Amino acid sequence: MRPGDTLDLVEANPRFVDWMTELLKTDPQLRRVADRVRILPGLVQDVDLPDGYHAAVSGLPFTNFDAETVSGILDILLKALQPQARLSFFTYAALRRLKLLTSREPEYVRMVRVEAVVADRMESHQTDREFVLSNLPPAWVYHLRA
Ligand SMILES: C[S@@+](CC[C@H](N)C(=O)[O-])C[C@H]1O[C@@H](n2cnc3c(N)ncnc32)[C@H](O)[C@@H]1O
Repeated sequence: MRPGDTLDLVEANPRFVDWMTELLKTDPQLRRVADRVRILPGLVQDVDLPDGYHAAVSGLPFTNFDAETVSGILDILLKALQPQARLSFFTYAALRRLKLLTSREPEYVRMVRVEAVVADRMESHQTDREFVLSNLPPAWVYHLRA
């Protein structure tokens, strides 16, 4: 974080919320920015996000959700951004393909529908993508402009 930046973290798992809350008090690096970090506990679909963020980063496992959930979450995050700000998220490249190849029909259909939702948003929003080979496992990172 740069000086003056603020950060809102949304996390559904109460244990992770407690852990992050604790780290913001105890970790020397995080303590320095703790007064500019807000933890918003709950599902991103339920949290009341203000408008006007300069950037959003999602670590949500979209490939595990159903298409309607992914669609709703992408809409919520894109709506919370300032015009031209970017929403970034990633998928693990090999895992995605492996899951598709090994899934039975209902699961396969669910994943294909999720992919269609993501592809639709990529088409309707200016999108950059980058392949991060050095990540374990390698990942595609997508940046959608609001
Ligand atoms: C793959 S982990 C990512 C961890 C870390 N935030 C990151 O980006 O590296 C996904 C996290 O999203 C949380 N989560 C899952 N569904 C969520 C939702 N609808 N809203 C907010 N958090 C959610 C899970 O509890 C989990 O901690």
